[in-house]
Amino acid sequence: MSPVRGYVFDAYGTLFDVHAVVEAGREITADPAALSALWRQKQLEYTWLRALMGRYEDFWAVTESALRYALRRLGLPASEPQIRRLMDAYLALTCFPDVRPGLERLAGRPRAILSNGAPRMLEAAVRSSGLGAHVDHVLSVDAVKTYKPSPRVYALGPETLRVPAGELLFVSSNAWDVAGAKACGYRVAWCNRADAPEEELGAPADLVVTGLDQLPV
Ligand code: 2OP
Repeated sequence: MSPVRGYVFDAYGTLFDVHAVVEAGREITADPAALSALWRQKQLEYTWLRALMGRYEDFWAVTESALRYALRRLGLPASEPQIRRLMDAYLALTCFPDVRPGLERLAGRPRAILSNGAPRMLEAAVRSSGLGAHVDHVLSVDAVKTYKPSPRVYALGPETLRVPAGELLFVSSNAWDVAGAKACGYRVAWCNRADAPEEELGAPADLVVTGLDQLPV
């Protein structure tokens, strides 16, 4: 792989462990993992549907709508304070153990986050995880009022880093996100944290890793 001049990282699921919100779900359900999985699935579905409909709402609003759907779908009664606690868990996510050492190894070249997250969500997650010193740019889809995998989102990377997409390495744990970035000319690494099968989207990853500490320096 020819030298990489910058790195662009997905946030939720790649840097931050979204299923850590499961802890906040324990007070509501005996199966918080099922709530977390449906919540995440619905959150992503709503981003794709709203982008296709041209009815953008930011990721905080979409995440709350997805939570309310998941609670109703699973028949889980939840008070407004309980919903607030679950939502606030998204502002205090932890990062996976390989993330900080993985980002430190890449110091010296620009490292950006490019995420569906609303700006204040990303700022909070970077702060709570202590990644501020290891990230040079935080880019939110909110700048273009649509969602991944829209090419308008991925264009923010080369525009901000002033490096052509083909000289950037995009890293995501979401294989559909990897396909979206590849379709826009990035070099892509899939951080396959869930040992998932490849997606059938005609844009396979250039590199597959299981942690950021395995990325080429
Ligand atoms: C992110 O954009 C895809 O939710 C994921 O951070």
